[in-house]
Formats: sequence, structure tokens, C-alpha cells
Amino acid sequence: MKKILVIHGPNLNLLGVRETSIYGSSSLEEINAKLEGLARVSGVELTFFQSNHEGDIVDIIGKSHRDGFSAIVINPAAYTHTSVAIRDAISAVNVPAVEVHLSNIYKREEFRHHSLIAPACVGQVSGFGVQSYVLGLSAAIALLSK
Ligand code: DQA
Repeated sequence: MKKILVIHGPNLNLLGVRETSIYGSSSLEEINAKLEGLARVSGVELTFFQSNHEGDIVDIIGKSHRDGFSAIVINPAAYTHTSVAIRDAISAVNVPAVEVHLSNIYKREEFRHHSLIAPACVGQVSGFGVQSYVLGLSAAIALLSK
């Protein structure tokens, strides 16, 4: 069974209570459960990883190929706008990545309009709430059959 790594960046552990008017009321566990449902019917295995630490995210991406992952779905959260290290990690491994955001980052503060991560990814989904993750995972699953 093909394996997909789902990475949640900083503060996403607070979903459900954090700025719910922007990020919605679903908790991270609820989002992961929804993704598990899609994975089950699609015949793929998911591994979830959440960290508030840039280096931990760099480390798990860096070994993702060795660990047998065929694709990555990542919400880099605030690191989207700052992390050359996460971008370089994605570029370094031969594992296609899909970037997702709950909110539409282009509709928000100017500093959120730029993603350092996007050029290293196959594509980006932004602005559909929990559905961004579902669409992002669907895109990652479609990449597997390429
Ligand atoms: C986010 C958007 C980022 O700008 C922000 O820092 C987040 C969440 C989103 O999912 O909409 O933490 O990635």
C-alpha cells in the first residue's frame, strides 16, 4: 500500500479553538479523521505529523523518501512565509508535495501573500477550510498513479 505523509505546521495543534472565524471549528483530530476516511476508500496509508518546530519538519521531510513515502501533503502554516529550510528539504527529496491552507492566504495580510514553499511543490490548495486538506490529499493520491 502506498504511503502519504501529512504534515501540519506550527499552531495547527490549536485548531478548533484558534481564530475560528478564520480557520473554522474543526480540531486537528477531526481533520485527520476526515482524511483517514478518504485514505481508506482510496487504498493509501497516511502518517500524520504535527510540529511547532521548523527543524523537526525539515527532518521528517528529509527522511520521507527513505521512509517509503510516495507523496507529502503539507500545511506549513506560518513557515509558509519564512522557511527556506522547509522549501529546500522538499526540493531535496524525490517525493512530490502538495501545499494546503485552510484560509485563502492571498485574501489576508500582505505578508501571507507569498509562499516560499509553493515553488517546491506540485501545486497548492488555499481557502477551502477543511476541504483544502481533502482536495490536497485527492491531488496527492492522483499523483501516485502517474
Ligand atoms: C495557514 C495560513 C498561514 O498564513 C498561517 O500562518 C497559518 C495557517 C492556513 O492553513 O490557512 O498558521 O497555513
